[in-house]
Amino acid sequence: MENERGSWGSNIGFLLAAIGSAVGLGNIWGFPYKMGKSGGFTFLIVYLLLAAFVGLTIMMGELALGRKTGTGPIGAYHAVSKRFKWIGWLAVFSPFIIMSFYSVLGGYCIEYMSLNLSNLAFRNPTISGGDLFHSMLTNPLGSVVYTMLFLIICYLINRGGISGGIEKFNNVGMPTLFVMLVIIIIKSLSMPGSIEGLKFMFVPGYAVSGGFIESAPSISTVLATAGGQMFFSLSLAMGAMITYGSYIDKKENLVRNSTIIVISDTIIAIMAGIAVIPAAVAYGIQQGIPVGEIALGGPSLLFVTLQNVFNSMGSVGALFGTIFYLLVLIAAITSGISLIEVISTFFLDRAAQKGRKASRPRIVLLVCLAILAEAALVAVDGLGSNGIAPFNLLGMETNVTGWNDCWLDFMDMLSEGLAMPLGAMLMSIMIGWEIHPKSMLDEIHSGAGSGMDGFFSVCMKIIAPLGMVLILSGQISDFFGKDARIAGYIIGIVVYVIGVSVAVTSPMRKAAYK
Ligand code: PHE
Repeated sequence: MENERGSWGSNIGFLLAAIGSAVGLGNIWGFPYKMGKSGGFTFLIVYLLLAAFVGLTIMMGELALGRKTGTGPIGAYHAVSKRFKWIGWLAVFSPFIIMSFYSVLGGYCIEYMSLNLSNLAFRNPTISGGDLFHSMLTNPLGSVVYTMLFLIICYLINRGGISGGIEKFNNVGMPTLFVMLVIIIIKSLSMPGSIEGLKFMFVPGYAVSGGFIESAPSISTVLATAGGQMFFSLSLAMGAMITYGSYIDKKENLVRNSTIIVISDTIIAIMAGIAVIPAAVAYGIQQGIPVGEIALGGPSLLFVTLQNVFNSMGSVGALFGTIFYLLVLIAAITSGISLIEVISTFFLDRAAQKGRKASRPRIVLLVCLAILAEAALVAVDGLGSNGIAPFNLLGMETNVTGWNDCWLDFMDMLSEGLAMPLGAMLMSIMIGWEIHPKSMLDEIHSGAGSGMDGFFSVCMKIIAPLGMVLILSGQISDFFGKDARIAGYIIGIVVYVIGVSVAVTSPMRKAAYK
């Protein structure tokens, strides 16, 4: 019987929703680009090892934490820990901050999809991707309206609840996304010159020898890049998997489910790469653009390079453009609703705890309105085009570092850069050193599935938190400049040492380890 919180209608429904959360903008513009730039196949191997050893364990840990406690992150940490109760707040703060830019980017996808649809209908004169992107960024009102439209779509899904809204949307959205991705891959690979793009992605060292980038990154940079990407792409350390886990039935197998989510997300990231990079490279070569100057990552890949690719296809371009931006939009929606659900579940659970009857539609509405307020800032800023970027407001002369050149980067620095690695590190310290990994393993095995126990413990105690030190320092050097990397290591190690000391002196530990 469904309780008042609701639950997944079926395991496959849960899986599609969790994969939907994982598959997002990170897969489409982050993974392929970082893979090419950081050594192609080498990056892929590092990524797979990290995903298999760290990502999978953390995924199981988060799903188990949610299912064991039956609440979102704030309630979950409160229920199991004495010393780390407050980490739950971090895990609700991050999704809120991420949504400030995720919804703006979702809005951009709606704008581009509508534009291609209108090109299809009216054969408008083609405008170059660069000009379009510029006029979109410098039109604050338009950006706010489309951001709002994106949030309205998410609102309508989230208000339907876990099985009635989120699961239903993913059941249709994810298979559709997959089919559209295959269509785009076929088109992309049929373009002359696309092989160069495949080489960029898969051949070790080709990014440098082919002229895409000047020099290869160091191994520590590759590790940090792959690790950061893996966490973001798997929706870890944001409370999303704890929240989705809290709606899973006790009889489901968490080991198998986690494995399926990790593998699917990775396959879709690689497929997304094969869909976009070869097309972008082929187009650049046709136009005689030096490969080093083709934008292959970030917003410019999606909204400049690829729009040019569609423009260059003649009349079918608008059709492929419509399919493509709809695909990206679906990916953004299925991730956005998981982030909104983290925050909404918190308020729902709190109301229930206080014995009040909570209205889901009302809570979801308020959450979306709060997101709209912060997202409006990011939308109006237009990636720093409109003179209100943090460095403008702070009266700084330059914007040389990554965190202050636009509000999107600032928000990204707070969430993906700092809160995510710190939150993940503290969560693994809590499970590993305070409450005993066994308490989570009991939950993980309650729906069958066994093995990996020794590894799970070592991972939670040592591998995952130290991996997070590396990721944290990578993020800090991305956002604050290369010289700050050392500071990142120091902060990371200090947090680890303090965290473990706090955990081992906790009264919970005495009970758990006796
Ligand atoms: N995994 C999503 C992506 O790849 C982003 C996300 C992170 C979604 C955390 C939910 C929670 O874009």
